[in-house]
Amino acid sequence: MIMSYGGDLLEVALLIVFSRSGSPTPVARTPGDSVSAWAAPAADGEAAINPRNPCRGCTRLVSIAVMARILFDTATTINGWIADTDNSLAWLFAVDGGEHPDDGLIPTGLGAQVEGSTTYEWVLAETDILAHPEKWADFHGDRPTFVFTTRALPTPEGADVRFVRGSVSEVLPAIREAAGDGDIWVVGGGDLAGQFLDAGALDRIALSIAPVALDGGAPLLPRRLESDRLRLVSAVAHGQFARLIYDVLPGKRAVPK
Ligand SMILES: NC(=O)c1ccc[n+]([C@@H]2O[C@H](COP(=O)([O-])OP(=O)(O)OC[C@H]3O[C@@H](n4cnc5c(N)ncnc54)[C@H](OP(=O)(O)O)[C@@H]3O)[C@@H](O)[C@H]2O)c1
Repeated sequence: MIMSYGGDLLEVALLIVFSRSGSPTPVARTPGDSVSAWAAPAADGEAAINPRNPCRGCTRLVSIAVMARILFDTATTINGWIADTDNSLAWLFAVDGGEHPDDGLIPTGLGAQVEGSTTYEWVLAETDILAHPEKWADFHGDRPTFVFTTRALPTPEGADVRFVRGSVSEVLPAIREAAGDGDIWVVGGGDLAGQFLDAGALDRIALSIAPVALDGGAPLLPRRLESDRLRLVSAVAHGQFARLIYDVLPGKRAVPK
């Protein structure tokens, strides 16, 4: 979380901020939110924050931006596959609205995308992007895309692609810096999303569930994650798709399979 205080920039690790409602009780806020609050320097030099204005001793307006959220947002079958055994998404594109999804099925407010090399190579191959680099922007805009890989892979001309490898916690600071205030979209695959989960760096899981079952393929999330870690935010029908959004709650780290 970054707090701007009286023109200075302080990086502080506040886990709670105060609600705008005027309640003096600290409440947890979702990463990605931002609030303004009145603050007074406390005796120990740290800022005491209160959203109410005025408050005793509060002299400066501070703005608090909670760190960008990290989202795993994907289409999936009803039985938990995000690609078939040939890494094909033909089953998804065959669904009404699957090829040109509703706006409500695509995350917004993004600052960066993250994907594994299988997903990246699928994107390159599917639309022949190396020969037609202008198509890159259709899916990625001008956002930086971080591709996890141990190999040397090609980059479409002009695309902001950054190849990374190793543990999520080591790479995450660079991803956060590139994303700025925007959210970070973990596009897939499922194990990469699981690596973010293992690192305690997954805030939200958004699923667009297609009316399809497959008999194998790329798994949605090969981790054990129980109900104490997931809070349902919304469940909405979008044509043939069911859109489920869950916040991921902090807890014991999930154990990789
Ligand atoms: N339904 C949807 O909306 C949706 C969304 C996303 C993806 N997909 C599809 O789902 C499938 C996912 O494939 P996948 O499960 O193989 O996953 P992937 O995450 O796309 O790629 C996995 C590969 O990424 C590299 N990698 C992963 N973690 C790494 C790390 N920490 N450091 C370095 N390299 C790392 C490794 O390859 P190398 O080191 O060998 O390069 C690994 O084999 C793809 O077919 C994709 O197109 C579907």
